[in-house]
Amino acid sequence: MLQHFDPSKGSAYKGSPDKDYGTPARLSETLVTLDIDGVQITVPEGTSVMRAAALHDINIPKLCASDNLEAFGSCRLCAVQIEGRRGYPASCTTPAEAGMKITTQNGKLARLRRNIMELYISDHPLDCLTCPANGDCELQDMAGAVGLRDVRYGFEGENHLDAKTDSSNPYFSFDASKCIVCSRCVRACEEVQGTFALTIEGRGFDSKVAAGQGGDFMSSDCVSCGACVQACPTSTLMEKSVIDAGQPEHSIVTTCAYCGVGCSFKAEMKGDQVIRMVPYKGGDANHGHSCVKGRFAFGYATHADRIKHPMIRDSIDQPWREVSWEEAIGFAARRLKETQAKYGRESIGGITSSRCTNEETYLVQKLVRAGFRNNNTDTCARVCHSPTGFGLKATLGESAGTQTFDSVMQSDVIIVIGANPTDAHPVFGSLMRRRLREGAELIVADPRRIDLLKTPHLKDAQHLPLRPGTNVALINALAHVIMDEGLEDTDFIASRCDDKGYQAWRAFISDARHSPEQMEAVTGVSAEAVRRAARTYATAPNGAIYYGLGVTEHSQGSTMVMGIANLALATGNIGREGVGVNPLRGQNNVQGSCDMGSFPHELPGYQHVSDDAARARFEQVWGVTLDDEPGLRIPNMFDSAIAGTFKALYVQGEDIAQSDPNTHHVESALKSLDCLIVQDIFLNETAKFAHVLLPGSSFLEKNGTFTNAERRINRVRKVMPAVAGKEDWEVTQDLANALGYPMNYAHPSEIMDEIASLTPTFTGVSYDKLDQLGSIQWPCNDEHPDGMPTMHVEDFPIGRGQFAITEYVATEERTNRRFPLLLTTGRILSQYNVGAQTRRTDNQIWHDEDVLEVHPSDAELRGIRDGDWLGISSRAGQTVLRARISERMLPGVVYTTFHHPGSGANVITTDSSDWATNCPEYKVTAVQVEKVSQPSEWQQNFRSFEKLQHKLLKGDAATLANGNGAG
Ligand code: SF4
Ligand code: SF4
Ligand code: SF4
Ligand code: FES
Repeated sequence: MLQHFDPSKGSAYKGSPDKDYGTPARLSETLVTLDIDGVQITVPEGTSVMRAAALHDINIPKLCASDNLEAFGSCRLCAVQIEGRRGYPASCTTPAEAGMKITTQNGKLARLRRNIMELYISDHPLDCLTCPANGDCELQDMAGAVGLRDVRYGFEGENHLDAKTDSSNPYFSFDASKCIVCSRCVRACEEVQGTFALTIEGRGFDSKVAAGQGGDFMSSDCVSCGACVQACPTSTLMEKSVIDAGQPEHSIVTTCAYCGVGCSFKAEMKGDQVIRMVPYKGGDANHGHSCVKGRFAFGYATHADRIKHPMIRDSIDQPWREVSWEEAIGFAARRLKETQAKYGRESIGGITSSRCTNEETYLVQKLVRAGFRNNNTDTCARVCHSPTGFGLKATLGESAGTQTFDSVMQSDVIIVIGANPTDAHPVFGSLMRRRLREGAELIVADPRRIDLLKTPHLKDAQHLPLRPGTNVALINALAHVIMDEGLEDTDFIASRCDDKGYQAWRAFISDARHSPEQMEAVTGVSAEAVRRAARTYATAPNGAIYYGLGVTEHSQGSTMVMGIANLALATGNIGREGVGVNPLRGQNNVQGSCDMGSFPHELPGYQHVSDDAARARFEQVWGVTLDDEPGLRIPNMFDSAIAGTFKALYVQGEDIAQSDPNTHHVESALKSLDCLIVQDIFLNETAKFAHVLLPGSSFLEKNGTFTNAERRINRVRKVMPAVAGKEDWEVTQDLANALGYPMNYAHPSEIMDEIASLTPTFTGVSYDKLDQLGSIQWPCNDEHPDGMPTMHVEDFPIGRGQFAITEYVATEERTNRRFPLLLTTGRILSQYNVGAQTRRTDNQIWHDEDVLEVHPSDAELRGIRDGDWLGISSRAGQTVLRARISERMLPGVVYTTFHHPGSGANVITTDSSDWATNCPEYKVTAVQVEKVSQPSEWQQNFRSFEKLQHKLLKGDAATLANGNGAG
């Protein structure tokens, strides 16, 4: 029987996040009381003696134990005396038992520990004063704790002092001369990260840590998550930033600004300089784990490319002029007013960013609605998870995932559809892998063989390699099997779901046209595999579904989200731990940017602009009359710009020129604007078309909150001053004031107070409460004062669960003789989204260009070899990428990433989009590939335009004089 373990539970015995209790918490409801050094201590059964003692501040010396790893019992430093037992058992591996009487300190134990430490130190360089870990070294601490004064053994005999240092990883080094072979690193890589990149090679004196098959870290399977570095009690594994800059002197807890996992980190500082980011054990999303991006890729914040001064220009072929904040804001406000005066109130708009904080996003949409006096606000979530909002609201009544991340530890069957958690949501991917190692079953529906399917110690996983664009056909076939074979949860359906809708759906889905046998020709997945997967999910005690952009970024994205919800409702997999429907959000604040009213039809809290009562509440607080008609979505803004009716745009922290589909169309739209105001930390692709460039602030330079994929609101805390002197919210506020709409916030906490007053799901949220609780999962209100980890436990916000009719409609983007292959796109671990941040870090080492993955059979047919330049043509355009032959895709499917602007991945994606939300169909583009010898025309133009814009950034008037215009 699969045991369920929830790392977030057991709070009474959880202890402080700032202390290492030696072994993990245990959750048994049976308590045992024992005597340690005369103190009566009660702990859950299964707790180690070491942990029981540490919970009461009796700190037993230790070296090989750490409370994020299972006890190993190798160093013996933690020996204790137990009345009635022989010898000196290790306290880390000895479970506490009722009635035990334990002594942790006496003369014999002290001698034993000193002898052990003496042996360690006799084979360890005595360079503590010059060691980078000086002051932060457990070996040093333990030598002090056991009172070691001298070492009787010399270094004459065999030792490891000449062992080589491996510096191959850009972020940390491995100095083997300092290794005490405690194996904490090996266990961290296995238990916490789930990569199994490290081993202990050899035996006895010759045993040593090895990365991969005796190579270095870079040539091993290591994914640079940093778990081993954090686990190492010596300076053997050490961050290079600490070696270079010395030990930090203070720390501030904040939230990673990369993906939707929302990991908490301690920014460890020396003055204003970040020395290292250490994953915070008290973080409820990550419990002290991290990935390479959050842990190491923070250097972009101080990169030389940062925009440090406001800049303006009249047209995009002119040099930028550095100006004061006042002048830039005044220029922007004047241009916006002039545009509205000339072209009307609806001719301008704003785009919020899922990378910015809730408070910043709220302010931008408020500026648009109250300052611009229209609803032309949209967000980059339009191009990723807008179908999630639509589909989940229609079926479950709330536009958000239903679970905590920790819930996966209670799942027996995990379905992953169109998501790649180990690359795109790595810390959650590690948690999922842990559950899979414990025995949960995995079903992956994806055209690619994602790495999760290669999880070490995974049992018999099921892969449904469907053709891109056939998600709905597959989900319908799965549902058909459930009804056909009587696997539905009739009690749940009767008690929780709308009967009329259910009966209609039942009749629809039971039709033979949805059977896996009929759908086999459409999806490419065998009927037998579909039937097996449906049975596995429907009969599991707890079945959970996780999905990503491979679900939403389709012409039927919203239909598919509803299809997933149908499946969960039909099997009763909603409303408790271990189950649910869980969108894996791409960027750090996708959930938050949607919650904050970024969409043109919804005020904060998903309150429709046509709802008179909701509008009245906002009108009273904002002091203006609001438009009751939805405004323009991003694609409509582009179309209207080209049509000449939409003339000015304010874009905060978003790179639409790179991230939106059909680049030719987007560039024409941006060139059609009279005024483009871009607020960003770098001269991004969009800024190259801008007239006003307002320096943005990185997550390290501001206060605010992010909301992660589990609806968890986390605090972002300022650790260094903003490079250009203003946090992003202050810039929006200045622009509002310059436009004549007053905003007077003194701190983002006041913006959150306003959000709480206007958003029913946020009424209980405040910075004080966030400081007190660490994080809050909304809804947080009178009914749920501390938030709500699992949604829909007793009912749905819409009363009963609504089944939706999900007819499969084939995408118009089909292969034919001219475009015989299907292109699908995705992400990789080391780069983030459009790459603006990660490309400015050493993460470039892992992925310095986007490549096109081609199946060997397609490659052979075209005479393509690994590394060849390939021209990729679609109905929208052409680009050129290097080939990588790979068996991860099906024949007929090619794959690329979009992390480098010059790749032009979106030059070829079309503007086909989701029927309900306009989310682009990035995941399906019909293409042809052929060997070529030079970049595409777009790429050649891109390079010369980029070169020009960098010259103009430096105010290079000579560029103009030479007549080198932008065209
Ligand atoms: S950095 Fe992470 S993946 Fe690499 S060896 Fe260490 S624990 Fe394993
Ligand atoms: S590298 Fe560090 S954690 Fe790993 S075995 Fe050596 S001392 Fe222990
Ligand atoms: S998993 Fe996501 S939130 Fe966590 S450290 Fe990595 S990028 Fe940051
Ligand atoms: S800490 Fe217990 S044996 Fe090492």
